[in-house]
Amino acid sequence: MKIITYIMAAALLASFSAGMVVEAADKAKKDPMQTIRGAKAWAQNCGRCHNIRAPKELTDEEWEVSATHMRVRANIPGDVIRDIIVFLKASNNEKVEE
Ligand code: HEC
Repeated sequence: MKIITYIMAAALLASFSAGMVVEAADKAKKDPMQTIRGAKAWAQNCGRCHNIRAPKELTDEEWEVSATHMRVRANIPGDVIRDIIVFLKASNNEKVEE
């Protein structure tokens, strides 16, 4: 009897935590403010040392590399650079904008 209770509790716990992980991932994907925060941080940070680089200059993959490089160069916090990358990727796709 006791073992069955443990198994059921473990199964419940497993499904519960898996559900929470999915929920957290969905939330991150659906954070509509992230692009806006990113746009603001891009405008504030990315023109400090050189002319501001337009999102369309690079592909998604190139922005991952370049923005991570700039994160180190400019000592930009991780959460801020993640917002900036989301903004850059969302704004560089000509197909979506046309
Ligand atoms: C602290 C000064 C500084 C800031 C702030 C800065 N950059 Fe740069 N950036 C540089 C320098 C210096 C280079 C030339 C490459 C090098 O020497 O690292 C560069 C080069 C680049 C390049 C050319 C490709 C590359 O990766 O080398 C891109 C694109 C770029 N920056 C984008 C950005 C973006 C986007 C931001 C905002 C997140 C930013 N930069 C903020 C200093 C800065």
